[in-house]
Amino acid sequence: MHVPADVTDLALASAGRKRIEWAAQAMPVLASIEDEFRRERPLEGVALGACLHVTTETARLMQVLKAGGARIALCASNPLSTQDDVAASLVVHDGISVYARRGEDRETYFNHIHAVLDTRPRLTMDDGADLVSTIHTDRRDLMEGVLGGTEETTTGVIRLRSMAEKGVLGYPIIAVNDADTKHLFDNRYGTGQSTVDGIIRATNRLLAGSTFVVSGYGWCGRGVAMRASGLGARVIVTEVDPLRALEAVMDGYTVTTMDEAAAVGDFFCTVTGDMHVLRREHFEKMKDGAILCNSGHFDVEIELPALADLAVQRRQIRKEVEEFLLADGRRINVLAEGRLVNLAAAEGHPSSVMDMSFANQALCAAHLARNGHGGSPRVLPVPPEIDRKIARIKLRSMGVVIDSLTPEQEKYLSSWEMGT
Ligand SMILES: NC(=O)c1ccc[n+]([C@@H]2O[C@H](COP(=O)([O-])OP(=O)(O)OC[C@H]3O[C@@H](n4cnc5c(N)ncnc54)[C@H](O)[C@@H]3O)[C@@H](O)[C@H]2O)c1
Repeated sequence: MHVPADVTDLALASAGRKRIEWAAQAMPVLASIEDEFRRERPLEGVALGACLHVTTETARLMQVLKAGGARIALCASNPLSTQDDVAASLVVHDGISVYARRGEDRETYFNHIHAVLDTRPRLTMDDGADLVSTIHTDRRDLMEGVLGGTEETTTGVIRLRSMAEKGVLGYPIIAVNDADTKHLFDNRYGTGQSTVDGIIRATNRLLAGSTFVVSGYGWCGRGVAMRASGLGARVIVTEVDPLRALEAVMDGYTVTTMDEAAAVGDFFCTVTGDMHVLRREHFEKMKDGAILCNSGHFDVEIELPALADLAVQRRQIRKEVEEFLLADGRRINVLAEGRLVNLAAAEGHPSSVMDMSFANQALCAAHLARNGHGGSPRVLPVPPEIDRKIARIKLRSMGVVIDSLTPEQEKYLSSWEMGT
């Protein structure tokens, strides 16, 4: 059967299949949902367009959605995060249309988004809202046919909320990111580990004894700070939110402005979802050899055009390290072109954490297919029963048993009469 696709090399498929199998071993929640989907076929015949990082974990999600009956087309949500062997395996072994090539240029990236949209999806699944925004700008003809969508990440949810507030959102989207079984684990432990992993793979530098600046103390920033500190770095946090800054102080980190931190940091990692967090005035203060990276969704957190402007010479000194030489002889190094360092220089989040994030995606897709949207175009929360179900299955898969409320406790916790 011919599967329409555009991937780098189909000959990589068998290597990709082994890596997908390896990931599957750490994804028991998705396996349990796959069994349920095979029996119940909640997505029978539904065209589903997905724009996600094309990794081994995403491949497992695609297999599960297919087991539920979906007809899938997948493209990349970032030009540098595609694992070419995984893309090939999905086409060859699973018969899934994939449009993704690692390192694709901007034009190809958007051509691939359009190729997915050409399949006229009834459900959209985004990581960063690029499918949704393309439907709302260039492909409005598709809007009426869409039942709903899901969104994986903080930045995507922010974009969608802004669309909803301005009255331009055309169909309902479930904010998967906001499920507890997503951001409490994926953003914190997933981004924490994989970001530090990306930095180490890219540089092979020692974190112990270094000064490591984390910008943004949200769910991701907490994880990055925790893991960098665990490897012996002195962590400095920069923030704009007083509550988050206070939390970082009480968690034991130094909190200061980027102006101050710029002069002392060895490593800088932005995870804010904001733009130009590191900019010209900061580059001007940095030490020779400073290493800069980003783990926020878009490549706008480090103002690269300003750094390029300051540089008298640039060279690729290691695979994922670009060195910018400044006129005074200082060298500033940028990892992975300022794109998500954990996906570009490492393999993204470990499978066992994506197990929960993607369980939310799978169950929310089934929920939308079963119930339609039943209401106005809004950003919807993940139904709480889905969150609890995922936590229960995950705990069971880890062999962890927890207590249940006694009838007396249940009564106590739902009453107001009993005091001291
Ligand atoms: N690398 C990954 O795999 C991965 C995974 C999940 C989320 N993300 C992305 O990471 C980013 C952060 O996500 P999150 O869930 O931690 O978001 P969050 O909203 O919980 O945290 C972001 C924090 O950054 C702070 N901030 C904003 N502008 C700032 C500035 N100029 N200087 C310092 N701090 C600033 C905010 O006050 C907030 O506390 C988003 O873009 C999200 O999409 C990446």
